Amino acid sequence: MTRMGIILGTTRPGRVGPQVAAWVHQVAQEDTGAEFEVVDIADYDLPLFDEPRSPLLGDYAHEHTRKWSAKIAELDGFVFVTPEYNRSIPSSLKNAIDYLYAEWTGKAAGIVAYGSNVSGARAVEHLRLIAAGLHIATVRTQLNLSLVTDFESFTTFTPSDRHAAALRQLLTEVTAWARALAPLRAA
Ligand SMILES: Cc1cc2nc3c(=O)[nH]c(=O)nc-3n(C[C@H](O)[C@H](O)[C@H](O)COP(=O)(O)O)c2cc1C
Repeated sequence: MTRMGIILGTTRPGRVGPQVAAWVHQVAQEDTGAEFEVVDIADYDLPLFDEPRSPLLGDYAHEHTRKWSAKIAELDGFVFVTPEYNRSIPSSLKNAIDYLYAEWTGKAAGIVAYGSNVSGARAVEHLRLIAAGLHIATVRTQLNLSLVTDFESFTTFTPSDRHAAALRQLLTEVTAWARALAPLRAA
């Protein structure tokens, strides 16, 4: 069974990210034969990157890193749920990504973004660039949710049918790519 993680990238109290991740998870239940779980970065209590050695070595000094490593290592692909913070991804997500290397490589990812201004478009572009550096293959279809039109009062997520259709397409793509890359991961 292909195992997919919905990576919830924010950690602040009052964040709206959990609503978006829960929706992705719910739609993913309809689909594909893959197993999806929400992976909430906030649950891993990662401090600002504090490993003495490069993640390229996979030789971790801290228990929090080993716990995070074990979770990402067991997944075949990802759906990143990220807002735009100062025209990029949140530092919480970048920090969590930076902790690991081999655990990310040879895997597929889709991106579901949200934001107030350009619906998270700049966060998506930055995340694609970061992913390329880790041999994460990002699929073409992406979601850009607007805090103005897809949320009530910037807080309550009200996903449209159009976005649900795009999400189904994204899930189909990312699951297929996660499966297709399996021989690469095995090698
Ligand atoms: C530090 C910070 C910076 C932000 N910068 C941007 C931005 O550059 N562009 C944008 O569209 N929204 C920006 N926002 C708005 C966020 O996208 C919005 O608050 C969103 O709900 C944050 O996700 P979260 O609720 O899961 O934390 C910013 C919010 C914060 C807290």
